[in-house]
Parts: sequence; structure tokens; C-alpha cells
Amino acid sequence: MTEAKGDFTKQKLWGGRFTGQTDPLMHEFNQCLRYDQRMYLADVRGSIAYSKALLKVGILTQHEANEIERGLGEVAKEWETKTFAPEPDDEDIHTANERRLSEIVGKDIGGKLHTGRSRNDQVATDLRLWLLEEASTIKKYLKDLITVMVDRAEKEVDVLMPGYTHLQRAQPIRWSHLLLSHAFSFNSDLTRLSALLPRISVLPLGCGALAGNPFGVDRDFLAKELGFDSVAENSLYGTGDRDFIVEFLQWGASTMGHVSRMAEDLIIYSTAEFGFVQLSDAYSTGSSMMPQKKNPDSLELLRGKSGRVFGQMSGFMMSLKGLPSTYNKDLQECQEPLFDCVDTLSASLRIFEGVVGTLAINKKKMEGALTMDMLATDLADYLVRKGVPFRETHHVSGKAVALAEATSVSISQLTLEQYLTLNPKFEQDVFADVFDFEKSVEKRNAIGGPSREMVARQVRVLRKSVSDN
Ligand code: ARG
Repeated sequence: MTEAKGDFTKQKLWGGRFTGQTDPLMHEFNQCLRYDQRMYLADVRGSIAYSKALLKVGILTQHEANEIERGLGEVAKEWETKTFAPEPDDEDIHTANERRLSEIVGKDIGGKLHTGRSRNDQVATDLRLWLLEEASTIKKYLKDLITVMVDRAEKEVDVLMPGYTHLQRAQPIRWSHLLLSHAFSFNSDLTRLSALLPRISVLPLGCGALAGNPFGVDRDFLAKELGFDSVAENSLYGTGDRDFIVEFLQWGASTMGHVSRMAEDLIIYSTAEFGFVQLSDAYSTGSSMMPQKKNPDSLELLRGKSGRVFGQMSGFMMSLKGLPSTYNKDLQECQEPLFDCVDTLSASLRIFEGVVGTLAINKKKMEGALTMDMLATDLADYLVRKGVPFRETHHVSGKAVALAEATSVSISQLTLEQYLTLNPKFEQDVFADVFDFEKSVEKRNAIGGPSREMVARQVRVLRKSVSDN
């Protein structure tokens, strides 16, 4: 580790009060440039805005502010073109950029940029700026996923399948109805993310290390320059808060939970036992040993990654718990979970969109899995329509199922005479009215149901949400 005394551009940024050297392992332990460099642009943007605020209060001359803007532009270009050469003492992206700025514009000008600012308000600003950008990209991926599901639901509305509870065949539904159920979960993720954005968009810059800015920088101006919705109203809060990251991680964990649940449905439906769906080759892999196999690895990875994001969320929440007020270095531990969550969500949503958009469904298998006993509730409802109380019709229908089972036929194959022994209200129309899956689904025409009309309504609601959010 080198410390060239007298030339502050070669010292640790905070090196003035130190006489001893940093332990090499500690030096490494403390360094976060290897991961926080991905915020380089946010850091440069924040610094340019801050130099303009310093110009407004007379700390910088116009010439100095121009030079800083030019220098920072070069710094950004170096990162962009991968020519930025980190020095061993570049502890993080903030120190690296400032060190390089001073090399480019000279320390007499570069050394003025940090006036009244701390890395505490700087990093909080960078994180928020960076996340705002990433969140809007992720939002787009989420909308694309919802749109693929909605498009399919619209196109494949004719396909019926068993609906399951407890993974047992329950009642007939439309495949579209099931697809849209997952799309509604993603839609709730979409609206939650939209609601979160204003809480990310709060400007910490100008809070200093903790106690505020002594040069009267115009924070409303800074917010406007950087596109923030509002400014942090309390400087201790502004520097010490990472709730926006917690919320984003929680959002990510919950969104991946939805990915995982739908992935699980599709994994089950892709087994030979079900055969409802087949993944496209693009999202499957084979077995190194068993030549016949086609494995749904994409879906399994997605299901697995949900655990990973949940872990990032819970890990960082543990790091936060019990911290004293304002900035503590523990807060740096927000970064790796955040970056990993953003990367995982970005990849997962795009992969899932591909999987859902390209999988083939097997209408024959889905409809072939429908059995007449799934219409037992419809049979009870038939008698309800003839004035019999449901509690009684439920019992009668149960008896019909038992009778059919005892005589090894389906409930649609019992005779009218047999039905009349169970209840005198049965008539010949029971066969046409009840034992028809399409009719059963169409009868469920209240809002939320699987009828064509209601599926179309769900499609409309989701399309509107995708365009409104
Ligand atoms: N790299 C640090 C972080 O991410 C920047 C803030 C450092 N502040 C300090 N007082 N040491 O949290």
C-alpha cells in the first residue's frame, strides 16, 4: 500500500488524520469498488449536479464548474470504454471517481467538489438514482411477461382443463383462466413496483455526513437536476435510510415467489403423467445419461432463484436490524444483495417470458383429463335451480357419485330412474344441462369466473393496467 505524503491525490481520501497503515486484509475487506463501480454513471451524474449547486452558492466559479463537468464526463467515458484504471487506494466508486477527476482537472479544482458533501449522502443518492433506472427496466420486463400471458389467454380461450385444489381435480376451468390467475399476481407486483418508485425517488444529496449542508445548497434544485420527486426532509434520515432497498428486495422476493409458483404449475403439467404442456427446446435441457429426457431446467432454475432473492432480502434486513442512527458501514452491505436481486429479477423475468411465450399446450390432454365427477357441484346446482336447498342438493349429488362408483359408471351414465330415487325434482334435462364441461364453465359468469365473457374482461383489466403503470 502506498501513501505519498503531501500529494493528496495519492493518499487515501480520508488519510489526513492517519499515521498508521491499513492492514492489507482490512484494506481488501473495506473495498467495494469491485461491485459498486456499476453505479459509476449515477455517481458522475450526482457529482455534476452537486457542482452546479456549489456554483449557485459561490463555492465554485463558472470555470471551475465547467471543468468539473468536463472532467467527470471523461471519467464516465473511461468507465464506459473500460479504460478506467483503478488505483489500489480507490476504496469505492466515489473515491475512485474523485481521485480520477482531480488527475484530469487538477486537484485545485477537483478538490473543491466534495465541499459540504459526504460519501454518506453521496452513496445514498447514487443508490437511489441507480435503482430508479433499473426498476424502470425491470418494470418493462414485467409488463412484457404479463402481455405474453394475456395474449396467450386471449388466443387459447377455447381450451378447457381441470382446475385443481390441493392438486386434486376440482372443477372445469379454462386454461386462459389459469394463465390469467398468474398474470394477476404479476399485475399486483407491477402495481406494487409503481407504488414503490416515489419512495425511491427521494433525494439524500445535501444531507452531508449526517447533520446537513452548511453552504446552503439548493436541494430542490438538486432534486430537479437529477429527476427526483422529492428531497429527504431530515438529513439524519436521508443518510441513514435504506428502506427503499429493503422494500425493493421484498418486492423482488415476492415477485420471484410468483414466478416460482407458476413455474411449479408448469413443471407438474409438463410431466408425462399430466402432459398438458411441453416446453420448447430453447428452454429445456437433456440428461447426460438418459437420452430420452427433456428437463424443464429453466423452470427449476426460476423456482430455485426465488429462494436466492428471499435470502438476499432476509440477509440485508438482518444487517439493518439494530443499527444506531444515521450512517454505519454496515449499510454498505445493502449493495451486493441489491445488485444480485436486480440481476436475478432482470434475467428471470425475461427467461420466464420466453418460456411462457414458447411452450406448447396439449388441448387433447387437458380436456381429456376432465371427468364427469368434476361436475358433481354442477349437479347439486341443477337441483338448486329447481328450488332445493343447497345443503340438501350437495348430499343428493354425493349420493349420485357414490351410486355411480358402486356401479362402475360415471354420474352422467346413471339413468333418470336412478336419479329419481335420489330426488323427485330430477328431469330428463339433467343430462344435457349438467354433463357438459363447456356449459359448466360458461355458467360461471360472475366477475372473476372462467366464462368467455369474464376471461375477456380479465384480459381488458390487465391490458389497461399494463398501459397505466
Ligand atoms: N462505500 C460506502 C458505502 O457504500 C460509501 C460511504 C462511506 N462512508 C463512510 N463514512 N465511510 O456505504
